[in-house]
Amino acid sequence: MNIDFILGFDTPQLAAKVQPWMKDRNCLKTRYPTQQAAGYYASFQAISLFFNQHLNNIFTILLFVDKKQENKAWFDRWAQTYDRFIFRRFMWYWQDRTLAELTAKSKTILEIACGTGVGTEKAARLFPRAKIIATDLSPVMLTKARERLRNKANVTLKLADVERLSLKQKFDSVFCTEAFHHFPNPAKAMSEISKATKKNGLVAITDIHIPPLMITNILFKLEPGFVHMYTRKKWRALFEDAGFEVIKQKRTGLFALMTIGKKR
Ligand SMILES: C[S@@+](CC[C@H](N)C(=O)[O-])C[C@H]1O[C@@H](n2cnc3c(N)ncnc32)[C@H](O)[C@@H]1O
Repeated sequence: MNIDFILGFDTPQLAAKVQPWMKDRNCLKTRYPTQQAAGYYASFQAISLFFNQHLNNIFTILLFVDKKQENKAWFDRWAQTYDRFIFRRFMWYWQDRTLAELTAKSKTILEIACGTGVGTEKAARLFPRAKIIATDLSPVMLTKARERLRNKANVTLKLADVERLSLKQKFDSVFCTEAFHHFPNPAKAMSEISKATKKNGLVAITDIHIPPLMITNILFKLEPGFVHMYTRKKWRALFEDAGFEVIKQKRTGLFALMTIGKKR
């Protein structure tokens, strides 16, 4: 059985505690060994979500997989064919809308979770004088991005987990599209993004948002690496807690929500 579940608190602190127990188990390799296992997985996730919603993250039955490992393995595997995925068209539109929000004065731009570099290439075209750093957790995604961006002298690609960016410089603008729902510790991710943003700098994050979230969050848990879709209110709190003033929040097409914050 490759699916692990525990009783516990659905908090990053607990997650950090149980990480060592999970260390040697690669949950993804044989993620759904049988149809039946996939069914159990979905049911436990549903129960988990129910507790999550109703007891407000206090006590949760959590089916625990190492999400970071899972994301890395999943996107490494998917990278070769990722841009042929039918729903990429939506994502390209989200990238355009997100980049349109960045200030023309941006001299330094950071992209979080750049994937194959499609959004990075657009940023490099829109801001030819800016220095752009694009990061991702998946080495294979970055290889694809490197091929795409080999002629863009103003772009540097960096292998980095959003929760441990450790960048020396701060940026005028930071953007991230269609990736935040993969980050296991959203508060930590926002805090790292905040550390990388200059005072008065802009952060634009667009992520999938398909109401009713209670249902779609259950369904999407079947995607490897998926962690959570957040409500408008939660997005606002994530930004504010990380030291941003939310200056705009709007839908981006039917399936995504963009939040823009200015660093205080
Ligand atoms: C759905 S893809 C989106 C890629 C790109 N932003 C786009 O819009 O085309 C999600 C990306 O998030 C990356 N990712 C997942 N977890 C991450 C993490 N903890 N830190 C950095 N990148 C991560 C994956 O490797 C993948 O490339």
